[in-house]
Amino acid sequence: MSNNNLLTVHIVTFRDGKKGTVPFSYIKREEKEKPMALDVLMQAQSEKIPDLAFRYGCRARNCGVCTININDKPRVACRARVKDGDKLSALSTLPKLSDLVVRRDGIARQMKGLKIPSAGNDLNIDAPEEYHELTACIECYACLDKCPMHAKNIDNESFGEGFSGYKYGNPFSLLKLERICLDPLTSDKGKEAALQKAIDLDLKTCLDCPGCKCGVGIDLKGKVIKPLLEKAKKRFDL
Ligand code: SF4
Ligand code: SF4
Ligand code: FES
Repeated sequence: MSNNNLLTVHIVTFRDGKKGTVPFSYIKREEKEKPMALDVLMQAQSEKIPDLAFRYGCRARNCGVCTININDKPRVACRARVKDGDKLSALSTLPKLSDLVVRRDGIARQMKGLKIPSAGNDLNIDAPEEYHELTACIECYACLDKCPMHAKNIDNESFGEGFSGYKYGNPFSLLKLERICLDPLTSDKGKEAALQKAIDLDLKTCLDCPGCKCGVGIDLKGKVIKPLLEKAKKRFDL
């Protein structure tokens, strides 16, 4: 086989608390193929590293669980093409479990205990356009990258019994809270609870931050952070 049919990447493994790097040459189906990172990981697992750990679900950029770092930047592996020499590693913003698998529950648990009273169940009320835009979130957690609010969690990590999620927020959690605020079925009390939660997660950090970037193109700065800060300023004198 000609070398033009091979594409070599460097896969960063994580075993027993130690990092390693394994070069892997992906065999392309045709010379012109530009494989997705997930294709490469799957072939690496079947051909060279049988116990290589990584996650995937839908393979169609819907579930978000396949997100890894490519050359130290978060990318959705089933939709990110790789090139010769690329480095594939676990997301750097969450604790590593094994190889490219990270612990994700610290984010989801942030909302534990949050009670949002509903304004009723009138399905004829239309949600505003911004609400629908925010439903495009696939929970990939790419937006955690370089978020100074989430970075504060590093010193506060404790996953023991009773762990109820990270203390400090992140763009994804704020998106969920802004979505609750925009939902026409959320009562005024519910909106206030969501806003208070955003403030408790340290929304103030966003005041001095240039903004966050979404892996699927949601305007986080304009559609999440700005409206939350506006509401917080008005109600809580931020
Ligand atoms: S604007 Fe806020 S949520 Fe976004 S990256 Fe900055 S601190 Fe994090
Ligand atoms: S806001 Fe964007 S980057 Fe963040 S979890 Fe949702 S889809 Fe991913
Ligand atoms: S496998 Fe579901 S988004 Fe990649």
